[in-house]
Amino acid sequence: MDLRAFLVTLLMAWPAAQAKQIFSNQGTLKGWGGTQTEHKGEIKEVSDVFYDKAPALVMTQTYDASYTGRYHSEVRVLNAYKHGDTRFYGFAFRLPPDWQFDPAQSYDLAQFIAPFDKCDSYMPSTMFWSEGSKLFTRLKSGSVCDQKTKELPLDVTLTAGKWHKVVIQARWASNSTGYIRLWFDGKQVLNVQDVATTVSEDVPFQFRVGLYANGWHDDKGMKGTQGFRQVFYDKIAIATTMDEADPDRW
Ligand SMILES: *[C@@H]1O[C@H](CO)[C@@H](O)[C@H](O)[C@H]1NC(C)=O
Repeated sequence: MDLRAFLVTLLMAWPAAQAKQIFSNQGTLKGWGGTQTEHKGEIKEVSDVFYDKAPALVMTQTYDASYTGRYHSEVRVLNAYKHGDTRFYGFAFRLPPDWQFDPAQSYDLAQFIAPFDKCDSYMPSTMFWSEGSKLFTRLKSGSVCDQKTKELPLDVTLTAGKWHKVVIQARWASNSTGYIRLWFDGKQVLNVQDVATTVSEDVPFQFRVGLYANGWHDDKGMKGTQGFRQVFYDKIAIATTMDEADPDRW
């Protein structure tokens, strides 16, 4: 190869060499920084339901009136953010066709969370959850001992039996230089700028996806009649560019 051809090759490779997925998972049990299944919760690989190719993950939870604990069924990525990071977090999820939406009760679908040694053992910052067919996210600021929570309803409708695609972009800061943006099925539905997006403690937060039936615990009982719930997940990524986080683009 002559020098000119070499330089052209180098320049063409440059954008790809700069960008890099921080984490990716194509719906498999391998490669996670940990998993959590409380009580009768399960996490499995399935090959009959998937986003673009098999497998995908399914997270299940089963309500038990005699159990008073929480209902996590989640996989986690460690070191998903610290103060000053700007990152994209993408995933695809699907509720089964018979998912019962009413009456409304919270089912968390993804969250950022960190362990603490004071005031809270684990504290979630941003969460992404459903209530009926509505979706919400939130910002947590202040400190673990003085938590300020701002709920952010999303103007979208959750559909059963269909894959949905989520990309969250955040600049994580405990002062007012943070921002959070969210794309649902490719459409931007949130853009909150110049705000605190996390608490003052600069500890590594985990990114978790999975079904966390938090309403069953927090409301001290299940609403409705669907005590067995499952949510499918596929194409989970953390990246520094949209292209590498969007489930359709990698
Ligand atoms: C605000 O927070 C960011 C992220 O931690 C930090 O890089 C920056 O220096 C802070 N700015 C001020 C004015 O404190």
